Amino acid sequence: MEMQKKLYLETFGCQMNVSDSEKIVGLMQGIGYVETKDSTQADLILLNTCSIRAKAEQKVYGHLGKFKSLKESRPGLIIGVGGCVAQQEGEKLLKRAPFVNLVFGTHNLHQLQDMVRGAEAGRRSSATDFIDDEARFDLFLPQGREGGVSRFVTVMQGCDNFCAYCIVPHVRGREISRSAAKIVDEVRQLTASGVTEVTLLGQNVNSYAAKNPGEPDFADLLRLVAELDGVKRLRFTTSHPKDMSQRLIDCFAEIPKLAPHIHLPAQSGSDRVLKAMNRGYTAEQYLAKVTALKKACPQIQFTGDMIVGFPGETEEDFLATLDLIQEVQYADLFSFIYSARPGTAAAMLPDLTDPAEKQARLERLQVLQKKVTLERNQSLVGTVQQVLVEGLSSSGECLFGRTGGNRATLLAGDLALSGQLVEVKVVEGLQTLLKAELL
Ligand code: 5AD
Ligand code: SF4
Repeated sequence: MEMQKKLYLETFGCQMNVSDSEKIVGLMQGIGYVETKDSTQADLILLNTCSIRAKAEQKVYGHLGKFKSLKESRPGLIIGVGGCVAQQEGEKLLKRAPFVNLVFGTHNLHQLQDMVRGAEAGRRSSATDFIDDEARFDLFLPQGREGGVSRFVTVMQGCDNFCAYCIVPHVRGREISRSAAKIVDEVRQLTASGVTEVTLLGQNVNSYAAKNPGEPDFADLLRLVAELDGVKRLRFTTSHPKDMSQRLIDCFAEIPKLAPHIHLPAQSGSDRVLKAMNRGYTAEQYLAKVTALKKACPQIQFTGDMIVGFPGETEEDFLATLDLIQEVQYADLFSFIYSARPGTAAAMLPDLTDPAEKQARLERLQVLQKKVTLERNQSLVGTVQQVLVEGLSSSGECLFGRTGGNRATLLAGDLALSGQLVEVKVVEGLQTLLKAELL
């Protein structure tokens, strides 16, 4: 019998990459590879890369260096690079790293089986063309990994927004939406295998099917998925504030299965910076959406993303960002120092702020957010929440789950509750999690 070949796959970056990696596992299973967690055992190493900030990109090169020495000791080893760095670098990566066998971009997963077979036969290749014909639906392949309680389902890919700092439209291409029928099919299959929570995933889900006449819009897609019996809880990410319609806001009042949480990145609280970022809204307009969401769903929890040190950001601009954080009261916030990305509009702007000043702003922002997060977690003490039990906690001592508002929660209980929505009372609010008791 032929020995099974082993795949070691490492994933960097956002949920879209995690989702693509699941498809990669399925594709590689189709040509005889099983996944291993031990890179030294691998016949095939694939890196699914991220280029959102310079640091993420540097990490990829660090890892490649490590695998170079592995290849020196195992010459038959095949090394492939995919995802956003691959899309950005293309052929250049093959030249720069002679030990790399294949480079595949964000629209080229459907070519991966042939490329790996080619590498097995000694050929090196690169494929980074964007797809803009009917074959683009190949971007939405089925997932290859199984199990779990909560899974992502891709509904659209790419982005048409061109925020001045962002490389995503350059490495992921224009917005493409998947048909609602295919999405519903995939959700059905997942729930049949025991999944109870589904997160609909896209770079900008609010504009789902905006270019597909005849398809439901995102609000109607949420209703379609919520109608499926196996779905106990529904989430979506990510939303662009400018495209957050009242129809979508109303869903939080009207669809009981829709979890009371929204990730709504503001990026800045300064109108001047928002304009320079090409975000398409003012702080006041952003706050009006927040208010409408709180009205539709009083228990809703907000999370977001913020960038500090965008070119030209002054102390006054930065203070406006702190004000916005105070006003929204985010449950949690991801914050980043601006990083110039090749080919983006902002990369052309003079960036004169001292790096130490940017670092100081990031720290000030994070101190404020930590305080807000702790206060919010403490304010939940005594409330009743619905927790979806995901399994054992990392210490193995109790159960781990998430509230509808997406707060990590620990509770005592039987592992058999995994996959179930249970009612709990919050007994303690800590910095990074809640402790709760089953009701
Ligand atoms: N520099 C810093 N942060 C960035 N993000 C996107 N591009 C950049 C960049 N060039 C952040 C945004 C986005 C999140 C995923 O990453 O906040 O919402
Ligand atoms: Fe990037 Fe803006 Fe598109 Fe988000 S909406 S992926 S920040 S360009």
